[in-house]
Amino acid sequence: MKVQMKAKSYVSIAILMALFLVAGCGNKSEVTPSNSPSPTATVTASPSPIVNGGITPEATPTTPAAVTSKPSASPSASPAASTTPAKNGAIQVVAKPESITVLVNKMNSLPSSYEPTDLVYPNIAFTFTEKIEKRKMRQVAATAIEKLFAGASKDGIQLAGVSAYRSYATQKAVFQSYVKKDGEEKAKTYSAVPGTSEHETGLAIDVTGSNGKCAAEDCFGGTKEALWLEKHAAEYGFIVRYPQGKAAITGYQYEPWHLRYVGLDVAKEIQSKNLTLEEYYQTVPVAK
Ligand code: DAL
Ligand code: ZN
Repeated sequence: MKVQMKAKSYVSIAILMALFLVAGCGNKSEVTPSNSPSPTATVTASPSPIVNGGITPEATPTTPAAVTSKPSASPSASPAASTTPAKNGAIQVVAKPESITVLVNKMNSLPSSYEPTDLVYPNIAFTFTEKIEKRKMRQVAATAIEKLFAGASKDGIQLAGVSAYRSYATQKAVFQSYVKKDGEEKAKTYSAVPGTSEHETGLAIDVTGSNGKCAAEDCFGGTKEALWLEKHAAEYGFIVRYPQGKAAITGYQYEPWHLRYVGLDVAKEIQSKNLTLEEYYQTVPVAK
């Protein structure tokens, strides 16, 4: 018993000395610099690791990849997910599907019955002429996409919509057609399981150049339209939702054509810090 206690105190002293060296050398050591959700929510290592004679949980370092599902500091927007934390690996249904900043991904699904109540037809060009479901967006996103298209046009970039809103039923049909074509595992790398597509929020739209070439295809990457979007989308409240090199976080390969409306503030912060929506919320990376 005595020997055990002695061993324990040596371990405690060693841990305290190590923490002192990391956090106490004058540098404000950020635990997850690239994952900071907002300037007010910078997560820093606890300045005083010794509280109540022990080490505070906040002093436990986390790697940028091992972000927490519940940030210790809140981003300026909320992911609007269920307040009940998901069990390991389980998909949770978002509590506020109508939130402009809702996080929808492989781990956070919309209720299958969700239908936005304010869908309208944005006054922009599409690659097709029919007035059908996939032309619709929620009012706030429709107004913003009209402004984005006008801004692009002023810069000599002519864009066209490819696909915006999709109901749960449509997403189900779309996903199933890809499963038939490529098998489920491959399909899941580029198409969302019904309930987990941002297109079902009415806040997302796939866009391409007005010539309609490379619509929702890899060859859209690197075009002048794609480069313009990457640079300017945030000025209109949109983000390029699945950036290059972030598939391990978003769960999807690069989609330079998929824009998601999140509002001006969030979009600007995400763009300026080179984040994904997952990183912005410091939520767990989504497995592919
Ligand atoms: N292509 C995106 C991931 C979707 O299906 O919503
Ligand atoms: Zn899309």
